[in-house]
Amino acid sequence: MIPRKAPEAQAVAIRHVAIIMDGNGRWAKARHLPRVVGHQRGVEAVRRLTKAAREMGLEALTLYAFSTENWSRPEDEVTALMGLLKRFIQADLEEFCANNVRLKIIGDYRALPADVVAMLGDALARTAGNTGTTLVVALNYGAQDEIARAAAAAAAKGAVTVESIAAELDTADLPPLDLLIRTSGEVRLSNFLLWQAAYAEMWFTDVLWPDFTPEHLAEALAAFDARERRYGGR
Ligand code: IPE
Ligand code: IPE
Ligand code: MG
Repeated sequence: MIPRKAPEAQAVAIRHVAIIMDGNGRWAKARHLPRVVGHQRGVEAVRRLTKAAREMGLEALTLYAFSTENWSRPEDEVTALMGLLKRFIQADLEEFCANNVRLKIIGDYRALPADVVAMLGDALARTAGNTGTTLVVALNYGAQDEIARAAAAAAAKGAVTVESIAAELDTADLPPLDLLIRTSGEVRLSNFLLWQAAYAEMWFTDVLWPDFTPEHLAEALAAFDARERRYGGR
């Protein structure tokens, strides 16, 4: 059971949480294991946090899985990450459907290997009608790329305004971002949700992603409850 206040006892309802899942490599290094083992354990953390988000009633959980900059990693690591992604979605698709979880991808995922694109297309189609928590996976995602694509799409339709860009972002159909978490002690955004983070609360922890638990998420949500969001007002 996750120590979480009942929704009616929360100061504000939290609808959308995003996580920069960082520290898989350092987790493995500390144990003298190959980096890929850290990534495998990272997938286990994704599973438990997806379940926790659903049980906590979040409308959306957005996970940064592969950035536009991560292509610069060694080819064998990129290949291993793509394989893990594919196996995770394939293995958990029935679980998503059984629990009304909708899958959504942000980022230009069509640039991923063809077999991964095909598998994702199938998973997106099969979960499209689900109405529970949306699991948003950021793949080949970079906020600068997203904003540039959105601005171009807005310009092609007419006036470029804050509203017209926002309507073209990959996240346009999601609730506003409430809380952004980063694990592993790094305090930077690494090109994640730069637009959406304008008034999101931030929570940083030294915990490495493979060690992240639903209790850590509950801790972050409790910290969020204690904050006063002012949106520039007073
Ligand atoms: C995060 O872990 C996972 C991805 C970026 C895909 P890292 O692989 O960045 O782990 P560290 O930062 O090297 O520890
Ligand atoms: C951010 O982590 C990207 C993901 C978690 C997918 P990185 O490990 O790539 O970020 P930097 O290089 O430390 O900024
Ligand atoms: Mg990292």
